[in-house]
Amino acid sequence: MTTILKLGGSVITEKDVPETVDSEALAAAAGAIGTADVEDLVVVHGGGSFGHHHAEAHAVTATQGSQDATGIYAIHDAMGRLDDHVIEALQGAGVPAVPVHPFSVASRNADGETTLPTDTIERLRAEGFVPVLFGDVVVQAGAGATILSGDEIVVLLARSLAADRIGLCSGVPGVLDESGAVIDRIADFSAVAGALGGSEATDVTGGMAGKVRALLDVGTPASIFGPGDLSAFLAGENPGTLIE
Ligand code: IPE
Repeated sequence: MTTILKLGGSVITEKDVPETVDSEALAAAAGAIGTADVEDLVVVHGGGSFGHHHAEAHAVTATQGSQDATGIYAIHDAMGRLDDHVIEALQGAGVPAVPVHPFSVASRNADGETTLPTDTIERLRAEGFVPVLFGDVVVQAGAGATILSGDEIVVLLARSLAADRIGLCSGVPGVLDESGAVIDRIADFSAVAGALGGSEATDVTGGMAGKVRALLDVGTPASIFGPGDLSAFLAGENPGTLIE
């Protein structure tokens, strides 16, 4: 049973204060992972106030690249610093977490299709490690480097590792309907298009509509839930919104 868990940047950082870890929230998430009985886990985390801040400063987005090595390294390095905190918190909670830096292994073609080789990740898992990846910069043909979001990494990994479950631990308790209530289950995008701002929404990196569509596309059952539900998810429950 392979589980891919993303810790959203808004969960583990203070989103509005540059480069500030929400230590309490990170420790709580790490503790939940440490006490859970999960056989085969890959962790991905977002950027929060580390990545987005630097990406904006250097005008780099998922589609707008930069050839400026200083700027690209500033974004990658900030994410690396956040990752150091995540690894330390996970190891402190007894999780055999080790980092895999996406910038060093992923690449994108001129059409924006991303390749993320997983042989290292698979070997790490076989040796009992928990690989930890994160939203990062990625080299892109003809564009220098662009942003590779943690959500996109989750989708790529779910496909190549044939994952059984995806969990997105986010700042919201699930996908919300028009009245603000959590939608229990989404099997079809058209049923929730109204609540999510319509099927024309094209935001594939940050918006909920893009997230839901990408997850429906993968086919791996995916739960979107808030930090308080992390233990329940890891125990096999389906808190928040189940997308399948
Ligand atoms: C962002 O990753 C990575 C960078 C900006 C370098 P995500 O887009 O997955 O981060 P969050 O979870 O939304 O903060």
